[in-house]
Amino acid sequence: MAAALSAETIALVKATVPALAQHGEGITRAMYARLFQNPDIKALFNHANQATGAQPKALAGAVLAYAQNIDNLSVLLPAVERIAQKHVGYHILAEHYPFVATALLGAIKDVLGDAATDEILGAWGEAYWFLADILIGREAAIRTEIEAVEGGWTGWRDFVVAEKIRESAVITSFVLRPADGKPVIPHKPGQYLTFRFDLPDAPGEKRNYSISARPNGERYRISVKREDLGAASRFLHDQIRIGDILQATPPAGDFFLAEQPARPVVLLSGGVGLTPMISMVEHIAEAHPELEAHFVHGALNSGVHALDGHVRALAKDHGGVSVTTFYSEPLAGDRAGESHDVDGFITIDWLKTNTPFAEADFYLCGPIPFLKAFVQGLAAAGVPADRVHYEVFGPTAEALAA
Ligand SMILES: Cc1cc2nc3c(=O)[nH]c(=O)nc-3n(C[C@H](O)[C@H](O)[C@H](O)COP(=O)(O)OP(=O)(O)OC[C@H]3O[C@@H](n4cnc5c(N)ncnc54)[C@H](O)[C@@H]3O)c2cc1C
Ligand code: HEM
Repeated sequence: MAAALSAETIALVKATVPALAQHGEGITRAMYARLFQNPDIKALFNHANQATGAQPKALAGAVLAYAQNIDNLSVLLPAVERIAQKHVGYHILAEHYPFVATALLGAIKDVLGDAATDEILGAWGEAYWFLADILIGREAAIRTEIEAVEGGWTGWRDFVVAEKIRESAVITSFVLRPADGKPVIPHKPGQYLTFRFDLPDAPGEKRNYSISARPNGERYRISVKREDLGAASRFLHDQIRIGDILQATPPAGDFFLAEQPARPVVLLSGGVGLTPMISMVEHIAEAHPELEAHFVHGALNSGVHALDGHVRALAKDHGGVSVTTFYSEPLAGDRAGESHDVDGFITIDWLKTNTPFAEADFYLCGPIPFLKAFVQGLAAAGVPADRVHYEVFGPTAEALAA
């Protein structure tokens, strides 16, 4: 564990909060520009999240929240865990941290100019390494935990595409078996895999995909929505065939079903955000058949709705699982009560009436507006934050937000 930061360093870092609030993204963009001059370091990243600005924004949010909370780091612990899990997925190692230190300090100087005195840069250097040591330590511990379990591994492992299944007009599943034929570590239901794809014009490009099946020790399944302009999802849908090899790091992520669920669960998803919920509901049916579980899903319509028959079959065989689907843009042939249950969007009022709202744990995944609506809506309806768990299919801008 790193030694404590001095009161002087804390004061100097806190004094930079207004400047960070104003220039945070400018600093992180400048930092990535410096960092990516090194092609080996550049290759570690997801470049779509750079192009859209999502990752510089997430990092700027993290740096600002760190400066704001540097005298009360306990509020940052959940975000530290999320980042550490993400780093393990991307196979970030201790040896990579000095590159970010140099780039970050250089970027602070680039953007703040003379205001970034040697004293301030010294304090930020110390503060960076304090946080970096926490992350490096946690990341090493996660890797050790993974390797200790049968089927665990570190770094990139080859998987053979054993099945490719069209689940809807836009979503296709890929069943992945390890090429070495050995076991795979059982993931925690809700976790994701990180892939390294050799895209035609972007070799080594990284993406996360949630595992859409229960842990089983033998194989994983992912279910991918084809984005019309998406590099990796189009590659998977259009180029990848049964028998092809994909490379992935071990399951990671801090979004997963409690190991021993103590309360009923509501699994709330929108669109392709259903993937981690499929893993959870399959696992519940197998390992916790007595648990009361509500699978509540919103899709546009039957054309794009994936895995409906699968979830309904699970619910039929397991009395504790109930399924409700909402269509916001039903097709001409879609009928509430037949193809789906309810027309329109899922609402907090519907959840209040139809789920064990006052006691349940809520697991959420879907597009950003969906997540915002329910994270804020559940809070406003009095659900304590420790009963609300969510996954974002991209960098979390609020990652370290207090
Ligand atoms: C933890 C996690 C789990 C996930 N699980 C799943 C899952 O189970 N299923 C699933 O389908 N997805 C999942 N995702 C999302 C997935 O990782 C990819 O982001 C998604 O498939 C899109 O990738 P892509 O390469 O096809 O699109 P990208 O090429 O990354 O493009 C994404 C979007 O950015 C836009 N864009 C790209 N480049 C630029 C640019 N230069 N300027 C402006 N805009 C640009 C594109 O138009 C597109 O709309 C998950 C993400 C995370 C973080
Ligand atoms: C103290 C140091 C660091 C901090 C505070 C930090 C912070 C973050 C944050 C906030 C995220 C976004 C997490 C999310 O998805 O919600 C992230 C992701 C990531 N980080 Fe770091 N990081 C640090 C060091 C590093 C280093 C040294 C590297 C490698 C050189 C690195 C590479 C990555 C990559 C590849 C991602 C995923 C990017 C993506 O999804 O686009 N990070 N980090």
